[in-house]
Amino acid sequence: MSDAPISRTFSSQGPLRGYARVPGDKSISHRALILSALAVGESRIEGLLESEDIIATVAALWSMGAQIGQDANGNWVVNGVGVGGLLQPETALDMGNSGTSARLLMGLVASHAVTATFIGDPSLSKRPMGRVIDPLSRMGADFSVTPENRMPLMVHGRVPTVPIEYRLPVASAQVKSAIMLAALNTPGITRVIEPERTRDHSERMLGGFGAEVSVEEVDGERIISVTGEAELKPQPMTSVPGDPSSAAFPMVAASIVPGSAIWVRHVGINETRIGLIEVLREMGADIAYANERDVGGEPVADIEVRHSALKGVEVPPDIAPRMIDEFPILFVAAAMAEGKTVCTGLGELRHKESDRLAIMARGLKQLGVPVEETEDGLAITGSGGEKLRGDYATPTISAELDHRIAMSFAVAGLAAEHGVKIDDIRPIATSFPSFPPMLEDLGATVA
Ligand code: S3P
Repeated sequence: MSDAPISRTFSSQGPLRGYARVPGDKSISHRALILSALAVGESRIEGLLESEDIIATVAALWSMGAQIGQDANGNWVVNGVGVGGLLQPETALDMGNSGTSARLLMGLVASHAVTATFIGDPSLSKRPMGRVIDPLSRMGADFSVTPENRMPLMVHGRVPTVPIEYRLPVASAQVKSAIMLAALNTPGITRVIEPERTRDHSERMLGGFGAEVSVEEVDGERIISVTGEAELKPQPMTSVPGDPSSAAFPMVAASIVPGSAIWVRHVGINETRIGLIEVLREMGADIAYANERDVGGEPVADIEVRHSALKGVEVPPDIAPRMIDEFPILFVAAAMAEGKTVCTGLGELRHKESDRLAIMARGLKQLGVPVEETEDGLAITGSGGEKLRGDYATPTISAELDHRIAMSFAVAGLAAEHGVKIDDIRPIATSFPSFPPMLEDLGATVA
């Protein structure tokens, strides 16, 4: 990230029209790189997200012995070291802003003969790591860490680790995946019990790489079993679909800007990721899928979105894990709906790249939107389609170095009387570097 903040004002003078393409899925990109690095031989990845978070994973894997580059077609080529084959990194692993890199790679290191120091930016250094330290310590890894369980921290991997059975105390795909990755080099069967279903990309992709992974459903809980020590087969091509969490931004933008009609192409529609689409449809959004297909073991579609009048709804808390990253942009849709939208059970949002409940509530209030904030949720009274208007002609929103907050308020700017100025758009590069030009291509103004 460059040294000085870069502010931009987002607005629209008319409808959004055209085709948008969003970059590769962030979660799937991390996993494709990590699993390729654990397979002996050459794997190729197409459609990889090329963003700062993913580069953090690339650099860490590189420093532990995997060779990673690009071919003439822009596909990523990984020569892996094999399960158990990671090398001792010579310097600290810099995770930047990326919680997924940090937690997944801690799992990976835990069962290798490696000691690694994990460092990150100020936002990541405030996020809780106890949730991975606890299960990985039970497997035998050691951690040098402050009593608050925050980064920077050091992981002392153990060989052999011991298999555990672990019920996730928080619904977290990162924690689940960290344990599954540690399990790959752990003799025996490691089980993760998931009371609430979270994104299942690790389960799907590990199967594709030839690991023994089974998923059973018992009394509404999912039991994921991973058999170690696994041998992963390199994959000639892993295709990464477009990220539904990035598609969420143009989708809401088209829903709230009158007259809009857009297509977002090649978007992942894995059931564990599309809670937002379900909620938006219940609010009255006009969203249709076309060309549904399978890409690398993941369902994908082209998505058509047209503007429509939205109404407030009560969002059931059990849908949260299937749309955990989409609440900031849902709150923007709620701000334009008729009536009240009530969201509860969202305590986890306070532990993301920023405290997303507090920061969204503060910014929406700046835009004149009535918001009630509780410990675990927000209640938002929408404008009923009227343009948003704050105290100042063009309000400046502080995005607190959080990419999804910056993009959410950029979209709010398209529905605001005088647009919205974002104090610093640099963090957008962590997940969606092409976001500003994508909005401009659809007809928005970024100045
Ligand atoms: C992710 C899981 C989610 C999500 C994050 C990506 C993943 O985090 O917020 O952006 O790739 O596993 P949690 O597992 O902490 O909910």
